[in-house]
Amino acid sequence: MEQILQDKVIVVSGGTKGVGRGIVLESARQGAKVVIGGRDQAAADRILEQVCAAGGEGSFVRTDLYKAEDCAKLFDETIARYGKVDGFVNYAGLLPAATLLDSTPELFDNTFSVNIRAAFFCTQSAVRYMQKNGGGSIVMFGSPHAWCGEKDRPVYACSKGALLTLSEHVAHHYAVDQIRCNFVTMGWVPTEGELALRATQGMDNSALHDFAKDFLPMGRMQEIEDHVPGVIYLLSDYASQVTGANLRVTGGFYIS
Ligand SMILES: NC(=O)c1ccc[n+]([C@@H]2O[C@H](COP(=O)([O-])OP(=O)(O)OC[C@H]3O[C@@H](n4cnc5c(N)ncnc54)[C@H](OP(=O)(O)O)[C@@H]3O)[C@@H](O)[C@H]2O)c1
Repeated sequence: MEQILQDKVIVVSGGTKGVGRGIVLESARQGAKVVIGGRDQAAADRILEQVCAAGGEGSFVRTDLYKAEDCAKLFDETIARYGKVDGFVNYAGLLPAATLLDSTPELFDNTFSVNIRAAFFCTQSAVRYMQKNGGGSIVMFGSPHAWCGEKDRPVYACSKGALLTLSEHVAHHYAVDQIRCNFVTMGWVPTEGELALRATQGMDNSALHDFAKDFLPMGRMQEIEDHVPGVIYLLSDYASQVTGANLRVTGGFYIS
């Protein structure tokens, strides 16, 4: 059967958890060499065991996205190990809940450090290497919050708005280098991060699904599997003329 990412090298920031993990596993199944960025070595080891057991190849680069030098290291080590970068998925992110009136400078700085500063400098490294390689595909993980945001997520919303701008900037200015950049608007998924946040609000997995079922237009939360195929497509040559797109995988969920 055709493997649509055969011989590509794909870097996933936040590849240790949630949809990031799903993208790592499916990219490897589709023939890519995968590089997992994150801090959780144990989680990465478990994922790489599955990758190897299925005959794939990949590695982990310990990356603390609070540090700009780690953004560069993620790509420098990828080049040292595999010689090129074809795809970068910017999945890592923080989703703190606090209203405009309750947000502290520390919460603002931490969120912007990971969600936009690190995304910016990872993208800078990715673009530099992709230019040398004759092109590549970047996928930014966004949110419906990018357009306005719920009342308790203004810092998060602003960071995703900035990420949307970065995505459009790269799509517009680097198309000439055959570098594509697309934005995935991720709806609502019970990832480790989302479950941890909801636990602080007294909501367990089952209560979260019940709440979301009533709230979301299509009657259910998205799962990891709802997001993976679209990203694999955007990383593949089937999408070689697709750039500047906003792929909404939200089940009709808008925030206004
Ligand atoms: N869950 C949702 O409903 C939802 C909705 C819309 C958008 N999103 C987007 O999805 C992404 C993941 O969010 P999530 O809350 O769902 O979390 P998640 O799946 O639990 O994953 C968070 C990932 O970010 C990485 N990360 C966080 N801080 C980091 C740091 N300082 N350095 C390196 N890696 C770091 C984590 O890696 P380590 O643990 O290995 O450090 C982890 O892999 C974010 O971009 C978020 O905006 C999520």
